[in-house]
Amino acid sequence: MSTLVILGAQWGDEGKGKITDYLANKADFVVRYQGGDNAGHTVEIGENQYKLHLIPSGIFAGDKICVLGNGLVINPKSLLEEIKYLNDRGINTENLRISDRAHIIFPYHILLDQLEEEKKGKNKIGTTVKGIGPCYRDKVERTGIRMCDVFHKEFFEERLRENINNKNEIIEKLYGKEGLDADAIIKEYSGYLEEIKKYIADTTDLLNKSLKENKKILFEGAQGTLLDLDFGTYPYLTSSHPISGGVSIGAGISPFGLKSALGVVKAYTTRVGRGPFPTELHDEIGDAIREKGHEFGTTTGRPRRCGWLDAVMLKYSAQINGFSSFAVTRIDTLAGFDKVKICVGYELDGEKIEAFPASLETLAKCNPIYEELDGWSDEEMTNVEKYEDLPQTAKNYLKRIEELSGVKVSIASVGPKRSETLIIEEIF
Ligand code: GDP
Ligand code: IMO
Ligand code: MG
Repeated sequence: MSTLVILGAQWGDEGKGKITDYLANKADFVVRYQGGDNAGHTVEIGENQYKLHLIPSGIFAGDKICVLGNGLVINPKSLLEEIKYLNDRGINTENLRISDRAHIIFPYHILLDQLEEEKKGKNKIGTTVKGIGPCYRDKVERTGIRMCDVFHKEFFEERLRENINNKNEIIEKLYGKEGLDADAIIKEYSGYLEEIKKYIADTTDLLNKSLKENKKILFEGAQGTLLDLDFGTYPYLTSSHPISGGVSIGAGISPFGLKSALGVVKAYTTRVGRGPFPTELHDEIGDAIREKGHEFGTTTGRPRRCGWLDAVMLKYSAQINGFSSFAVTRIDTLAGFDKVKICVGYELDGEKIEAFPASLETLAKCNPIYEELDGWSDEEMTNVEKYEDLPQTAKNYLKRIEELSGVKVSIASVGPKRSETLIIEEIF
């Protein structure tokens, strides 16, 4: 297979970074196709833990070309900080390429993200306040500024000044706050962009030519299917398309050139930010999972809401993405419970439904119908080095996921490190 899309099947933080890093040594390219620095991908190699927000998790695998596709919204200041963070740790970033069509996040996007959230009050989305939504809005509105504009100084400055002036009207008149200093932003951001210019390229051409040469490309999703703008829990979601279909638009690859998609599934469910969550646990089990799994956001440090695995969601996610297989992570975190539960359907007004509803009003009324399975202990999870070593109860849990979702499990993850990855079937 020359392409593989790795993406989140739930609400993000499934372990995409870990799985991408694991598979990256077999790839020539590792490509992000949507989102921005709202993502937080953790990779553990030996004793070192790395947190990435923009740069693909293939950066640790040596000479791979790591691409930020056109579908991203990129904060140049964060990107430079991340490059420095990696370089300070001895990681080379010379193989980074940034699409000339990617959009740029400026301070007004971040300020508007913050002001809009505050204004929404109890209805706030709970965004990462990285300016993601406002930047994508400018893209759709056709007023955004792209990486290719950096090479046209006069146009870039004129466009940026016009945008700042327009946003200042909103900031001052609608929110009653002080507007931003256009000269200062133009100066500061021209400086950052000058530094990243060397990475900007026509990545669509690069990737398509490389595909023709049978090069192997991994696409690394950020966020997750239930945060997708169209298929997620609208409006409590992000403004991009993490789903497999997002790759075509976000990297410029024909859908007919894509081969397969790996859904990364956490063995339970977590969510950061607001919005309905049918299997959420508001009890000591939810707290125990959060504590044991250190379930706090990589980007914002917020506690992640925790709950049982939801197979209704997985089936829906599989339908949209066409997963060829799953990588199930955090099997070790779910150890230690006598019984574990999987939601196999929703009860809505006395009836069982198996489809994931569009309306959040409906979703909020859905009660999970659970199936209970025997759990596995922490002791049984020590020294698990291959699939055969897994306790039978954990194997049964994976089998049930396969039956309920119709997707086979090709990777089982039992810890954050590369070595704690069990390959059931080679997929790339
Ligand atoms: P991503 O956003 O999908 O890349 O996931 P995050 O990095 O935000 O969150 C996943 C967390 O789980 C990270 O801290 C990973 O190091 C960790 N992780 C990944 N797989 C496993 C696993 O199988 N077991 C344990 N205990 N931790 C894991
Ligand atoms: P990774 O790639 C989990 C959530 C935010 C909020 C909503 C909108 O690490 O899995 P945004 O700032 O994107 O406008 O916020 O989406 N969110 C994530 N949740 N993991 C992520 O990324 C997320 N990126 C955004 O918490 O609910
Ligand atoms: Mg994350």
